[in-house]
Amino acid sequence: MDYRIKSFDEYKDTYKRSVDDPEKFWAEIAEHFTWQKKWDKTLEWNFDEPKIEWFKGAKLNITENCLDRHLAKRGNKLALIWEPNDPKERYKRFTFKDIHERVCRLANVLKSKGVKKGDRVAIYMPMIPELMFSLLACARIGAIHNVVFAGFSASALADRINDSQCKMVLTADGLFRGTKEIPVKAVVNEALKECPSVQTTLVAKRTGWDVKMQEGRDFWLDDELEKAEAACPAEPMDAEDPLFILYTSGSTGKPKGVVHTCGGYMVYTAYTFANVFQPEESDIYWCTADIGWVTGHSYIVYGPLLNGTTTLMFEGVPTYPGPGRFWQICDKHSVSQFYTAPTAIRALMAHGEDHVLSYGLYTLKVLGSVGEPINREAWEWYQVHVGKGRCPVIDTWWQTETGGIMISAMGDFMPLKPTFAGLPHPGIQPVLLSQEGEEITEPHVQGYLAIKFPWPGMLRTTWGDHERCKNTYFSHYKGYYFTGDGAKKDEDGMFRISGRVDDVINVSGHRFGTAEIENAINSLDDLVAESAVVGYPHEIKGQAIYAYVITKQSPDNPEKLRAEIVEAVVSEIGRIAKPDKIQFVTGLPKTRSGKIMRRILRKIAEGEFDKVGDTSTLLDPDVVDEIKAGAL
Ligand code: PRX
Repeated sequence: MDYRIKSFDEYKDTYKRSVDDPEKFWAEIAEHFTWQKKWDKTLEWNFDEPKIEWFKGAKLNITENCLDRHLAKRGNKLALIWEPNDPKERYKRFTFKDIHERVCRLANVLKSKGVKKGDRVAIYMPMIPELMFSLLACARIGAIHNVVFAGFSASALADRINDSQCKMVLTADGLFRGTKEIPVKAVVNEALKECPSVQTTLVAKRTGWDVKMQEGRDFWLDDELEKAEAACPAEPMDAEDPLFILYTSGSTGKPKGVVHTCGGYMVYTAYTFANVFQPEESDIYWCTADIGWVTGHSYIVYGPLLNGTTTLMFEGVPTYPGPGRFWQICDKHSVSQFYTAPTAIRALMAHGEDHVLSYGLYTLKVLGSVGEPINREAWEWYQVHVGKGRCPVIDTWWQTETGGIMISAMGDFMPLKPTFAGLPHPGIQPVLLSQEGEEITEPHVQGYLAIKFPWPGMLRTTWGDHERCKNTYFSHYKGYYFTGDGAKKDEDGMFRISGRVDDVINVSGHRFGTAEIENAINSLDDLVAESAVVGYPHEIKGQAIYAYVITKQSPDNPEKLRAEIVEAVVSEIGRIAKPDKIQFVTGLPKTRSGKIMRRILRKIAEGEFDKVGDTSTLLDPDVVDEIKAGAL
């Protein structure tokens, strides 16, 4: 199944074909997959409702494409290498045949507990093999998986379970991440106090800790697997049936459940994976993301398995037990393609290059970057010290909503330019729009990044609230999908993504809405009157969180209050959303109509006091001087 593009010329031809006749193009790519029934119509769409249907009328099961169809030729090939947190613990390996059997068994357990096609199943697990098997087991029987990153708090987990009314939670006793030990099951117990839809939990054993199990609701996964049959037919799914929901933050309100469907997502993740990483049959591919994020869904689980590629999954963190861990793993398992986030590169850079220079890294061929803009220093360090000058560094721009990579180089034959994601993938028609919605054609002009034609991997809706999907993505500019990012193009058409233009903060590649963090802070309603959160540049995390807080009374013990605010955010969202700086203020810069001028707060947080701009339209311009005086 070779649909890989092999040269820059071929890319240009393919791109042209894909834009001239997108339906014909995608129908040809889709021919490379196993369909139980072919589609009646390749595409039906409008961006007004919006309604997007790819491969309409087709039937398939993505797990047949990830597993069954490889069995004849690749049954005994390694599909998964699992590297534990502690390098002294033995790693695990699974062939395609092994995973097929485990997924089928687990699928039968889900069925035996009453899970049916279309039911939602929450997955809140450490990075252990069972996590991968859980996604696939859901897909096998047509249940919709809702993976929640195991660093989210009980309250955030409960919100995500309730919004999609999950019937079951797949979890584990606890987790190891670096030096941390987290009582995962205890978090689930806490969350489930508020989740009446959940009837069953299945608990994988990772740490061996004694955990509280609720009779009749909680079951040990291993016990159930032992009782289950090893064969499970793949449920026939409509191409447009939901495959999964993944919650992500936007500029307003609570996180929304982005919905991806079976057919289009399969075709898109497989095709982009093959092109970007150009895996050969014997290659070992490693993406360091967590499966709790979209990168893990598309490029640890589905993309590699769909292509029959061996994928490595790592339980730990880049700096444990030392800052050479990534490179030690690359050498230990002969990794060929390595995909990570700029924040990890910057964190490792800060420890000095000695930690990487002691590893050969001879097997590496392609290096990828994802999640946030990669700055020139990090790009060059990655290229020189990790790639030893031999490997392309591929900056991949995409989003939870896009399902897969949209703009990036591929393999080793595309033009590369640090800080530029590059050219769009075949089938992707990005444009830059002015404030007024005019398409910008001249180079080097900053605009709003939008996409003007559907692609198979795009979101179809936001769970339970289609109107929200329409308002968030399809209403800013009529006839376009709006990304929320700003960008510009050079004279060769290469895109440089500058980052979010809305109230979304990207901390270490993780997305948070400012409103979400403000709500968490404001939940301390005895103490806090109002708050405003902005992002500011951070050397390692890309962006960090700055909170301006108006207290109800002047705090006698500001440090204690700061700790309480941090605790409120940790408890509402999770440790990953902790504010880095908290400044107590007596007022916020507001317009006469009551709108907070975040632009001013951002400039102050960045330390650019002379760039706050015009403050004359503010209700109380003096407040700006006060905030500047107290800035941290
Ligand atoms: O702002 C962009 C940034 O991350 C956002 C998407 O976040 P999320 O849905 O969590 O998905 C992250 C992994 C795909 C985008 O709107 N972003 C992602 N990749 C890049 C990027 N910004 C610049 N360059 C990138 N390569």
